[in-house]
Amino acid sequence: MPINTAVIGMGPIGNRHAAIYKKNPKINLVGLCEKDPSRNQKAASQFNLPCYASIEEMFSKEEIHLCSVTTGGYEYGSDHFEPTIFALTNGSHVLCEKPISNSIEKAFEMVQTAERYNKILAVNLNHRFTPAARIAKQWQLDNRIGTPLFINMSIWIHNPNESSPFFHIKALHPHSVDIMRHFFGDIEQVHCFAMKGPNRKIWSNAQFNIKFKEGAVGSLTGSYDIQRGHPMERCEFAGINGRVVIDDMYREATLYPAGDLVKSVYTNPIFGGMESFTDTFVNRINHLVDEIDRNVAPKDIDGSGLDGLKAQVALEAAVQSIMHEKVVRTDDILKI
Ligand SMILES: NC(=O)c1ccc[n+]([C@@H]2O[C@H](COP(=O)([O-])OP(=O)(O)OC[C@H]3O[C@@H](n4cnc5c(N)ncnc54)[C@H](O)[C@@H]3O)[C@@H](O)[C@H]2O)c1
Repeated sequence: MPINTAVIGMGPIGNRHAAIYKKNPKINLVGLCEKDPSRNQKAASQFNLPCYASIEEMFSKEEIHLCSVTTGGYEYGSDHFEPTIFALTNGSHVLCEKPISNSIEKAFEMVQTAERYNKILAVNLNHRFTPAARIAKQWQLDNRIGTPLFINMSIWIHNPNESSPFFHIKALHPHSVDIMRHFFGDIEQVHCFAMKGPNRKIWSNAQFNIKFKEGAVGSLTGSYDIQRGHPMERCEFAGINGRVVIDDMYREATLYPAGDLVKSVYTNPIFGGMESFTDTFVNRINHLVDEIDRNVAPKDIDGSGLDGLKAQVALEAAVQSIMHEKVVRTDDILKI
């Protein structure tokens, strides 16, 4: 049975979600929702679908099983809460854009509401949905990395948005922290130094020092000041059995086995490989659709609301660390 699906918030990212759903044969895209009149009209004609001005009206007219919440707001996350709660409490699963919310309390309530209503809350942590990341995960599951030792993550992109002092940390780093958690698990402590780039008012550069609950250590370097074009993301992690480097999310994954000079390399193929960053959305969305189709339990969803919440808790610890110049324990932000 096709999954009746809607997209709420028809900015650039909502349009991207809708275009991907439209091509998925398991999906019946039934409606769109956008409160801005000109974006609303544009989306309705682009997708030849009803585009409602409010989520309440849309749910009164359509039967909906899955919603993408692609709203934005302050720190790119304040508008996610209301539509997510409404959809979850009115019978729909939700795929929410990152950050799950700019508020820890609201993010926690979103996760709890999904649990209470036994609905899926997934977050678009798209950087983990690439063949390179999947192969690296398989190397880890096959014990080719071994006991985790250290992880070095970096991500940089140009973004001139100056709307909040912590915009760079809260809006960009859900991605990087999620990749770190994906391989090394929950984060226990965070220390963060930050710097304002030339002519900037916000903390547009940051260096995080991280201790994981399992004992491994990590670092994360991020910037909103570097022009696009060159490589933008690198993840290196090591255990006693081997070290892995993932370049640019999907371009290449390399395993350097300990005590063996022959390395394994996965390279994104020219034919049939991922073509651009947009394909991370394609993979992520189609993966969730397959999970819903296979009746995967909400708690077992890859890139869940809980993953989104835990990333935000680590980032809030970084914000507190910058403000108070100290190491911050994630449990002091929220015990989960
Ligand atoms: N996963 C990624 O790689 C990635 C990349 C870029 C952006 N994003 C995220 O995608 C989200 C959207 O980004 P964008 O650039 O399209 O934002 P945007 O602000 O341009 O668009 C959001 C739209 O949502 C609408 N909206 C807000 N609340 C609404 C409501 N209650 N009902 C109906 N419409 C509502 C707004 O009018 C706006 O048109 C952000 O949270 C951002 O962080 C994710």
